Amino acid sequence: MSDTIRYGIIGSGMMGIEHIMNINIIPDARVTEIADPHEGSREWGRATAEGEIEEYTDYREMLEKAPVDAVIVATPNFTHKAVLGDIFETKLHVLCEKPLCTTFEDAKAAAERAKTHEGVFWVGMEYRFMPPVTRFVEEVHGGSAGKLRMFAIREHRYPFLQKVDDWNRFSRNTGGTLVEKSCHYFDMMRHVVQSEPLRVYASGGQDVNHLDEKYDGETPDILDNAFVVVDFANGVRAMHDLCMFAEGSRNQEEMSAVGDSGKIECLIPEGNVVIGKRKPKSVETVHVPVQAEVLKAGFHHGASYYQHLAFQCAIREGTAPQVSAEDGLRAVAIGLAAHRSIEEGRPVLMSEFGL
Ligand SMILES: NC(=O)c1ccc[n+]([C@@H]2O[C@H](COP(=O)([O-])OP(=O)(O)OC[C@H]3O[C@@H](n4cnc5c(N)ncnc54)[C@H](O)[C@@H]3O)[C@@H](O)[C@H]2O)c1
Repeated sequence: MSDTIRYGIIGSGMMGIEHIMNINIIPDARVTEIADPHEGSREWGRATAEGEIEEYTDYREMLEKAPVDAVIVATPNFTHKAVLGDIFETKLHVLCEKPLCTTFEDAKAAAERAKTHEGVFWVGMEYRFMPPVTRFVEEVHGGSAGKLRMFAIREHRYPFLQKVDDWNRFSRNTGGTLVEKSCHYFDMMRHVVQSEPLRVYASGGQDVNHLDEKYDGETPDILDNAFVVVDFANGVRAMHDLCMFAEGSRNQEEMSAVGDSGKIECLIPEGNVVIGKRKPKSVETVHVPVQAEVLKAGFHHGASYYQHLAFQCAIREGTAPQVSAEDGLRAVAIGLAAHRSIEEGRPVLMSEFGL
């Protein structure tokens, strides 16, 4: 490998562009190729990438010809299975955007195959890498709240954005909102709680968004709000509260971890970590800054930048990925369990997925 890590971007839509913007500001890394069948996306990629790039309409041609070290998979969720199938024929390092795949069977097969892939295989779970979130996790794992008992993650935000060919309007393309969007938070739960989920209960629906839209005569079927409770094997209770018609929120993401002696909160985009103790009662707010240049290079509070530094470290040092295909699979499985719980009106055991 050359000193500079050469990246090929597969899918230069919104998330592919965020990857390009972040690779642009990292020394010894460069986007050299872009593959996307959509002219508008290739144009966006060309305008964003620094220096000369090669363009392809078919990513398979890029995989065959291009002198790249790593590829980013930032195509619609339902395409990940096929794209990964072709990448597994190479030895390239790969960062595959979440969710790993849209069904349990496909995600399981990809996670199995990734075990023998020669390059680094990394699943894009940006939220772990937001600097205030990293600090929050350090506080929880360092025992600032005592023994962890409860962990809650709220995302209150705007509706899903418009995507190329409107792929995100139907659950068959995304895996369902609790797979597409919330796999980030189920991954965070496992990361923070350091245990595996046993049981998932959820209530959710599509109550406000996209109900007046039609695509080829079909109304979108994507859930826009839910509560999901997850019981973990170590006794910790976790909860996710998602609302996608809540632009009127002070923060988009709010996490709280409560232990037997205190409570730690994380507030994004405020960028604050609040450390509270029970006895004697105290509440301290720590602001965790993110460099302006890094904040500007994306929509995820600096996360993509720090994720790329970690991904590149795994490539250069040959270390294990911080977010493995197995992590990607388990996050998808919790999302699918939550959807099953809503559809069937019952608690779902993770053992139903063989996990
Ligand atoms: N980690 C995050 O926070 C985050 C945020 C947004 C999106 N994502 C993920 O990134 C992926 C892309 O989402 P997006 O929001 O950028 O969607 P998008 O529609 O903006 O972009 C997807 C791009 O992929 C292209 N594409 C489709 N099929 C392709 C193929 N076979 N080969 C190459 N390109 C192809 C499309 O033409 C489009 O340009 C999805 O998996 C999504 O879940 C992750």
